[in-house]
Amino acid sequence: MTAGRWCSYVWRMSPASSRPQAAAALVDTTEHLSGTHTGRRRAHARGVCYDAELTPSGEAGRLTAAAHLQSDPVRATVRFSHTGADPQRLDGERAARGFATRFHLPDGSATDLIAVNPDRFVASTSEQFLDLLQAAERDPATGKPDPAKIRAYAELHPEAGAALAAVVGVCVPSSYATTEYWAIHAFLRRDADGAAHPVKYRWEPDSGIQHTDPAEAASWSPRHLTEELTERLADGPVTFTLKVQPGEEGDPTDDPTRTWPAGRREITAGRSRITAEVADQQYWEAQSFDPNPLTPGIEASDDPVPAARSAVYAVSYDRRSHQR
Ligand code: HEM
Repeated sequence: MTAGRWCSYVWRMSPASSRPQAAAALVDTTEHLSGTHTGRRRAHARGVCYDAELTPSGEAGRLTAAAHLQSDPVRATVRFSHTGADPQRLDGERAARGFATRFHLPDGSATDLIAVNPDRFVASTSEQFLDLLQAAERDPATGKPDPAKIRAYAELHPEAGAALAAVVGVCVPSSYATTEYWAIHAFLRRDADGAAHPVKYRWEPDSGIQHTDPAEAASWSPRHLTEELTERLADGPVTFTLKVQPGEEGDPTDDPTRTWPAGRREITAGRSRITAEVADQQYWEAQSFDPNPLTPGIEASDDPVPAARSAVYAVSYDRRSHQR
């Protein structure tokens, strides 16, 4: 589906990907690939949570009634993470990083915005992602993944192949504060007349974009990025600008492997100010960020992956909160 045609589309959950068995199969496969790490998230296992506040610019508030995008500052909690399911993965590795934000809304509810530093996902659907994870399983003969199986996946799904190359080649950020983060999926903003328009989100680091040469990052301490952020916050808040990219005719909304054209007009929705580590790290580490539920004014698009993610995150949450 493209941005110009989604209006007549009634969004529906993908029945296959919303099935608990499909979600469990995805979590089982990540455990098979990376081991079972008791009590930990089955992806993005290592992360740290921080207090933050979003000050909306008011610009997005003219386009949607979403409570966190109006004009009053909104309290937030963010979690920076390494993408790995193994909490021992190193900060110097070339790997995706996560930036999850929970906005605490004035009426006591909350909504999350989950972003990563690659600008696209490696699969168009959760079923395709399961195929990719299975292709990445270790060959018993060599103890390593079989590159031919990954190549076969990329050839079978050309869009996903390009996204895979972008994710594998992701730069090592010099700091959690010096990389862009994308929420990847298209969402819909509902305007005052009840019409819905597709949008995407991007966080722009106010400290500028800085990466580190992977050879230099290889000598970092295992937790370098967390230590660096602690030092940085001692000098003052870390800030990001929230950009909203409006979709245009022809922009795909149902496929997270596909980005929208670069250089597009963007709306500055607000600025997030990250101040310090949360006081109760254990409490926040035990919470679950989720691409759903959204908040009135923002709705899901026809991208099938966010609904599938919710089901998967619930399985991961259930296992880790029962110390499995
Ligand atoms: C079908 C596709 C996906 C699967 C199977 C998957 C799997 C997972 C799992 C199992 C977790 C741990 C959840 C928990 O225990 O709380 C997780 C967390 C996370 N995922 Fe995904 N994911 C998918 C797609 C994506 C996409 C497209 C993004 C990009 C925005 C993303 C970004 C994240 C981030 C940033 C976290 C950490 C959230 C936190 O800090 O709590 N994931 N994912």
